[in-house]
Amino acid sequence: MEKIQQAARIIASSSDVLVFSGAGVSAESGIPTFRGEGGLWERYPANIYANLPGLAGVFLLSKDRIASFFSDALRPLVEAKPNPAHEALARLEEAGKISAIVTQNIDDLHLAAGSREVLEVHGSAYRVRCSRCGSREGRSRKDINDVLDKLDVPTVSRRQMISALNEFAGKCLCGGRYRPDVVFFGESLPMDTIEEAADRASRCDCLISVGTSVLVYPAATVPAIASSCGARVIDINPTETTLSSTADVFVKMEAGKAMPAIADEVLRMTN
Ligand code: OAD
Repeated sequence: MEKIQQAARIIASSSDVLVFSGAGVSAESGIPTFRGEGGLWERYPANIYANLPGLAGVFLLSKDRIASFFSDALRPLVEAKPNPAHEALARLEEAGKISAIVTQNIDDLHLAAGSREVLEVHGSAYRVRCSRCGSREGRSRKDINDVLDKLDVPTVSRRQMISALNEFAGKCLCGGRYRPDVVFFGESLPMDTIEEAADRASRCDCLISVGTSVLVYPAATVPAIASSCGARVIDINPTETTLSSTADVFVKMEAGKAMPAIADEVLRMTN
């Protein structure tokens, strides 16, 4: 509990607290992380499945493998609900104790929990983006479930799969095709979002890194910028990360246990 107290004292005494979150925040909502035991990239190697040419290649070799990847990656997402970590972060924002969350997650659970200032640096599973003009459109959980149901039929043909995916994506008014508004490996991050994240990181006086291995760049520059600009750093993770040894406090716990305890302490200290 000493680490919880230390983290709470730092947050309570800071004036601009930025959060950097990753897959671990949503692990207790039932969404697997990417790396480590049971991670998505263990079952589906990232060098193949995390980029569009790789996915196209797998589709040609085995349509069943693509259907199982989409199902394993997206079913947990659409079934997930915010957990106590998301809720605690939303409570802290509501109380004026955190200014924004920079998230690498595409699951929209911070927004679902009530957080308002959320910068999705890797995009969102619930949006598509026109590949010609860049305009964006929302897609619901039901839209995603419907397309997964069509892909999951064992007798589905490749042609039927392509038509289900095209129907889900749809066409933009400009005539361009929509694609998922998520960042695949090798693609650029949304420039306006990552610039705002970097700007906020340079201004904050405390950065909470929670549920992330802090291994994927350029997103991982966010805590590096904050730290190099003098912010105090809190790392919350059940296992060590690239930040743990240099962080001001390393809270070696699951986010769903640590965040509510920290939020309770911060609110007790500041009320
Ligand atoms: P990773 O899978 O790399 O790391 C997840 C982190 O969560 C690990 O450090 C775990 O120890 C930690 N963790 C697991 N359970 C936890 C819990 N209950 N509470 C807190 N932490 C827990 O996921 P990210 O760091 O988010 O990018 O990965 C960053 C990016 O790599 C993702 O956005 C994705 C991926 O490839 C793209 O696809 C572009």
